[in-house]
Formats: sequence, C-alpha cells, structure tokens
Amino acid sequence: MHSTINPAILYWGTPVAIVSSENEDGTFNLAPTTSVFWLGHRCVLGLAAESKTPQNMLRTGQCVVNLPDDTQTPAVNGLAKTTGTETLSAGKLSRGYSYVHDKWACSGLTPQASQVIRPPRVRECPVQMECELTTAHEMWKDLPGMAGVILMFELRVVRVHVLDDIRMEGYKNRVDPDKWRPLIMSFQEFYGLDGGKKGPSRLGEIGEELYRKLADVDDEQPVEKAVSDVVPESSQNI
Ligand SMILES: Cc1cc2nc3c(=O)[nH]c(=O)nc-3n(C[C@H](O)[C@H](O)[C@H](O)COP(=O)(O)O)c2cc1C
Repeated sequence: MHSTINPAILYWGTPVAIVSSENEDGTFNLAPTTSVFWLGHRCVLGLAAESKTPQNMLRTGQCVVNLPDDTQTPAVNGLAKTTGTETLSAGKLSRGYSYVHDKWACSGLTPQASQVIRPPRVRECPVQMECELTTAHEMWKDLPGMAGVILMFELRVVRVHVLDDIRMEGYKNRVDPDKWRPLIMSFQEFYGLDGGKKGPSRLGEIGEELYRKLADVDDEQPVEKAVSDVVPESSQNI
C-alpha cells in the first residue's frame, strides 16, 4: 500500500560535493552541496542564490566540484551550517547558520592548486573536477516572489583529477566503481553505497519543517484535500 504524504524536503539521496570558489578578496570559499548531477562532461548544481558560492561563481565563472568519500563526514560536518556571506538571511539564522570566512580551517581541509582555473581543489577529496560556468538558470520563475531564490548552474568540467586508489586497473581513463565510495546525503543524513550510516550529520540537526516554506506553493494544500480533489476515493492509497 502507498500512503500519500507531503514531505517538507525531497532529498532522496545524492552525492555530497564540496565546491571551492574565489571570494572578492582573493581568498577561497568552500561549501557543501548535494543538489548535483552530471550529463556528459557537464555538471549541474543547484544552490540558494543568497549563499556565497553562487555569488562567487557568477562573478568569476569558475569553481571546483570536489567529491568526498564516505569516510569524510567530519569535514562536511565542519562546513555544515556555515556561510561565507557576512550578513545572514532570517532563514539561515533560524536554521543555526553562522558566518565563517576561513572554511578551510573549520573543515580541516587543505587547498591544492588547480591546473586550469584559480580556485584550488580540495586535496583530501578523491575526486576533483575543475569547472567553468556556462549558464545559470533561475528556478521557481512560475512562483510569485520566488524567481531566482534558487539558481541552477550548468558547468563545463574542464579537468578531472582522481586518486589512483579508485582507478580501474589496466585502464588509463576509468574509475573503478568497486573502489569509489561516494558520500551520499539522504534526508540530511549521511550514507555510503554499502547502505550504512556514515556518522552523525550536523545538517540533520535542522528540523525538516524549517524547509517547508521552500517547498512548492501547492504543497501548502493539506494532502487530504489535494488528493480528494483530483483522485477518486476508490483509487487513493494504492
Ligand atoms: C551535506 C550538505 C548538503 C547541502 N546541500 C545543499 C544544496 O544542495 N543546495 C544548497 O543551496 N545548499 C546546500 N547546503 C547548504 C549550503 O552548504 C549552505 O547554504 C552554505 O551556507 C553555503 O555556503 P556559502 O554561503 O559559503 O556558499 C548543504 C549543506 C550540507 C552540509
């Protein structure tokens, strides 16, 4: 049997990425994100426009998308609930965020020079992708007053670096999926592909309902009403 529910978030499970970007003063920011996927050698990222990282990306057109493995929860937790923007929005304040200028120090991660772009890679991450921005798209244009609150970035991956430990034996250009263990975020908690939980999540301290105002406006409608409006009673909860 299926039940019709109205979750505040729809984070079903995607890899965690740590994005490095350049600040106005020439220092470099770090931010974790999990709204990420790849098509060909393009990377698509979804980021709240108020964050420092998208602002840096729009200004410089560059970033590195670094992928931690499933042992690196502590570094991601060090970055969780921090922002490189000095003035925090009411939303971020209510979710317990604070301003941190040096995200490298608070995460214990170290910069490694990139080959093509200015922002450095994260040395500890087994996968590092140097990227150039091709287009930015405003999401939620159909919702009154919400246009551009979230931005979707299409990035061109211009260079890929991987730890030799995850390369496929006998091949110059292949990653061995038996060896690559991405860190997955599902509903604000950390998992590995082996199904096990990978430690506590600082992000998970944020109550899911605090995200509901970011849900689609239709979601404000009570589930019971929304369902009975459109589906005959006999076919509900199939
Ligand atoms: C594991 C994890 C995943 C996250 N995923 C996203 C995401 O997909 N999109 C987003 O906008 N923010 C996401 N965040 C929140 C950002 O990291 C947060 O907004 C942060 O302040 C951005 O840093 P910045 O302002 O210095 O760029 C995530 C945070 C964590 C810890």
